[in-house]
Amino acid sequence: MHKKLGRNDLCWCGSGKKYKKCHEAFDERILEFQLAGHVVPPHSIIKTPEQIEGMRRSSEINIAVLDYVAEHIREGITTEEIDRWVYDITVSRGGIPAPLNYEGFPKSVCTSVNDQVCHGIPSPDVVLKEGDIVNVDVSTIYRGYFSDSSRMFCIGQVSEEKRRLVEVTKECVEIGLREVKPWGFLGDMGQAVHEHAVKNGYTVVREIGGHGIGLEFHEDPWVSYVSRRGTEMLMVPGMVFTIEPMVNMGGDGVYVDESDGWTIYTEDGSPSAQWEIMVLVTEDGCEVLCY
Ligand code: MF3
Ligand code: CO
Repeated sequence: MHKKLGRNDLCWCGSGKKYKKCHEAFDERILEFQLAGHVVPPHSIIKTPEQIEGMRRSSEINIAVLDYVAEHIREGITTEEIDRWVYDITVSRGGIPAPLNYEGFPKSVCTSVNDQVCHGIPSPDVVLKEGDIVNVDVSTIYRGYFSDSSRMFCIGQVSEEKRRLVEVTKECVEIGLREVKPWGFLGDMGQAVHEHAVKNGYTVVREIGGHGIGLEFHEDPWVSYVSRRGTEMLMVPGMVFTIEPMVNMGGDGVYVDESDGWTIYTEDGSPSAQWEIMVLVTEDGCEVLCY
């Protein structure tokens, strides 16, 4: 998989340093995991410092958009209005909303209410009402770099059981994040997320996961939140991926709304919550780039 470089050749990472002084030891360490049968990351998804800086700038816009949503979302607004905010703020800061026209998605943001799991399409017909829980999933392209994060919002007074679902789902992300460090496995994170959800009586959606991100909206690896410790891709410094579990109050089954081709619902109509962050694996742990 990794082309064999001479020790005195320039490193593949673009640092301008000789391979032996740069990523040679790193590659040897990855090779050992590969020989032991693990899934390992290709060089193509390992970000350079310059790319990481680009993703940080993109994330700044994404975070600003979600901060604006957090301040203005309330009972009586439509999800169409949220879409308008997202479009206007993103574009005014020189960004492009990544969802717009992505594989035909018609809007700038995903808004998923109550039993909508994800990929809800903003609409003038969806008026937020007291007691709703809503996920707003924002993604930005800035100078070619992608960022992606989502938050939950409770509209007015929300039932205790829905509030708890939202809270526990956020905890799932925080607990998963603690497992993100170099030379661990994505399954370490996935199992931690899953266990916390199950411990609280919830299920985690299996068919839809997170993803690598950076130069594309969705890069390898695909990220599961029902995986097991010691399995799935090895985490190495420079990898960037999302933690975005979808946690259901009822069963884990979901289906796609055939009429719009996008919106995912829980099969049993129970509420679902999701928070999403974008995380960089560093030399000594990780850094949250976007939230
Ligand atoms: N933002 C979603 C994610 O977290 C992807 C949405 S794709 C869209 O991966 F087309 F629905 F916007
Ligand atoms: Co995502």
